[in-house]
Amino acid sequence: MMDNVAIALLLLLCAYILYKVRHMHLLVHTLRDDTRLGHASLFRQLEALQGLYVSLGLRRALPLTRGWAASPDFLQELAAHALDEQPHCVVECSSGISTLVLARCMQINGSGKVYSLEHDAHYARRTRRQLALHGLESWATVIDAPLTLQAVGGCQQQWYDCSGLPVLPPIDMLVIDGPPQAVAADARYPAGPALFPRLAPGAMVFLDDAARPGERAALARWAHEFPGMEIQSLPCEKGAAALRYRPTA
Ligand SMILES: C[S@@+](CC[C@H](N)C(=O)[O-])C[C@H]1O[C@@H](n2cnc3c(N)ncnc32)[C@H](O)[C@@H]1O
Repeated sequence: MMDNVAIALLLLLCAYILYKVRHMHLLVHTLRDDTRLGHASLFRQLEALQGLYVSLGLRRALPLTRGWAASPDFLQELAAHALDEQPHCVVECSSGISTLVLARCMQINGSGKVYSLEHDAHYARRTRRQLALHGLESWATVIDAPLTLQAVGGCQQQWYDCSGLPVLPPIDMLVIDGPPQAVAADARYPAGPALFPRLAPGAMVFLDDAARPGERAALARWAHEFPGMEIQSLPCEKGAAALRYRPTA
């Protein structure tokens, strides 16, 4: 009788050990796949960053591009478009490295100007300082645009106070990388009703962080409310979308 109990306990212990070993085996495979993906993604950002330095011929280093800053792959998309299509009037929601990159493109093109709306006075000063360090201050203006409650799409929402924006020609390129998500999940939606009516025919809009639910919801609302926008997703690490404005007759 005792022998049977001992054997049963032993079998139970073996089953438990086998279960644990299999669990660890799966864990090791998941870790290996994650590491490979992580390396591939990091390598992609390094390639994009190196490409940016080459195509922009920068003599000074850009600020760091992790965390809050736009990622190198998104910046590379912006630069490629700005250099290819040479937009004249570029408007940006949120300033930072993207402002530097776009301003440098304007300088290379020998025409165009960037108007960057920035809600945070501290970051506005930082971007102006960076523009001056890179000798790009005449190609971009950072506009203090505090977030204020505004009537958007039938409700009140915080968005940039655009009263500091000068009278502009139709916008050829619009970059939406703010306000930050902390303001509201759909913090970037108001850019549509506020700025899409000011786009030039053929203009391009770039949205960063398009993998997040708030940005996906904004894209869906814009697609519904602005049928002239052709939406394409871009393979950037945080998700991104490019919207071409093709006005319907
Ligand atoms: C997504 S970031 C904008 C990034 C910008 N387009 C760029 O390329 O660097 C949105 C806002 O975050 C703020 N911000 C920028 N850098 C930050 C940092 N290092 N930490 C916290 N907030 C930051 C600024 O107010 C900016 O308008």
